[in-house]
Amino acid sequence: ITDTPCDILFFGALGDLTQRKLLPALYQLDRAGLLPAETRIIGLARGSEPAASEATSEENLRRFVSEQDLDTKTVAAFLAKLQFLNFDFGAAQGYNSLKSLLDEKTGRARVFYYSTAASIYGMISKNLHASGCLDSDCRVVLEKPIGHSLASSHQVNADVAEYFAESQIYRIDHYLGKETVQNLIALRFANNLFGTQWNQNHISHVEITVAEKVGIEGRWGYFDKYGQLRDMVQNHLLQLLCLVAMDPPSDLTADAIRDEKVKVLRNLRPITDDIRDSHVIRGQYTAGEVEGKAVPGYLEEPDANTRSNTESFVAIKAEVRNWRWAGVPFYLRTGKRLPEKLSQITIHFKQQPHYIFDPEQRALAENLLTIKLQPDEGISLHIATKDQGLGKGMQLRQAPLQVSFAKAFDMDRVPDAYERLLLEVVQGNQYLFVRRDEIEHAWTWCDQILANWSDKGDPLPYAAGSWGPEAAYSMMNDDGRKWHEQK
Ligand code: BG6
Repeated sequence: ITDTPCDILFFGALGDLTQRKLLPALYQLDRAGLLPAETRIIGLARGSEPAASEATSEENLRRFVSEQDLDTKTVAAFLAKLQFLNFDFGAAQGYNSLKSLLDEKTGRARVFYYSTAASIYGMISKNLHASGCLDSDCRVVLEKPIGHSLASSHQVNADVAEYFAESQIYRIDHYLGKETVQNLIALRFANNLFGTQWNQNHISHVEITVAEKVGIEGRWGYFDKYGQLRDMVQNHLLQLLCLVAMDPPSDLTADAIRDEKVKVLRNLRPITDDIRDSHVIRGQYTAGEVEGKAVPGYLEEPDANTRSNTESFVAIKAEVRNWRWAGVPFYLRTGKRLPEKLSQITIHFKQQPHYIFDPEQRALAENLLTIKLQPDEGISLHIATKDQGLGKGMQLRQAPLQVSFAKAFDMDRVPDAYERLLLEVVQGNQYLFVRRDEIEHAWTWCDQILANWSDKGDPLPYAAGSWGPEAAYSMMNDDGRKWHEQK
């Protein structure tokens, strides 16, 4: 653990992400004694926004941190580290005040966290540079979405690269900070049992599902411009796919891991016009019920544009063109207003070459490895066993070998992804962050899916509370398969 004192600065200090996630995450790190002593946390808000104060932050901490983790002394100690500055991010003047504030303490690592629209990342970087706030040790954290397409992400990355070296840039994909996502690396590369089976000889297909119950939650303005493919697939689902599909890195250094991920992205089969309809399903929710509660359709959400054809659901059959994965589809699926909040990866292993049990029970002889990211983080492996008891002959029954991380490791809480990511930034470790070429390869693949997307007609309707349009089932069924929840 580094003990170099640190100044952590947030642009967009009053934004939802900073208040809901980042400050609570820093609070938890502070509470666990993981922040270097004398760390300063500096919230930067625009001049036009209300001046933030300790009172606002305390109120929000109390909203977003669970009560059992709050105690008066720790909260007070945390608030004492916090200060705010309001200024116009587009004008040089405010940066001079910031520079004076930074210069009050010397010998510190500076972390600039950009939690604003990516279109101003370049401008902020330029102003920080011009005012002398940057040094060769400082780091910058870039929130997603970085761009809207390959061209726009290229522009944002190029603008930031004028002032920061790649080794100083930490691009966030908060899925990489989730406990079970990192466990994928341990599972695959520390267990020979899986290492030897992880290829097309043994695996028939892979499912990656990231389902959400929530709808648009007042984010129409942002979401409608992006849609589920840009908001979730370009980043979170492709990162999960990379971690499942990549070859073993030579070590755990950031670039060894990222080099392998880039190879996967480069090897994704392009979704060209001739296969788009059979490989990509997009949907938009209509009114329905989630957990017994009536909810409006996408086009009836507050502030909705009633003619929007933005997708709130996507299912994609992805393929990785290499020796390891030839003929093994990766079925990706993500959507809003699905029946449950569930993120999981399911690996379907091939069956034995010669089957000798009851023909009716053949499906039970498929080993399934499920890696559950949320909720109930854990791993389970379904194996076929002989059903217990007399008089049943050699009847098969599927049984799970299960590890629930909370139970196995006696954890009272699973740290939020942002806690881990902020800690890694403070420590200067880049392995959980996305390199520029990764983002650009991911956009290249997504841009191809998006090409002429709007000319292809409207997304398919699905009722809120269902698992997406029928066509998402047909995509699997046409390959003789079923989604994991489809019994
Ligand atoms: C964000 C997306 O990156 O991830 C949101 O912008 C989405 O639309 C969220 O709701 C999901 O994250 P999590 O951690 O709740 O699965």
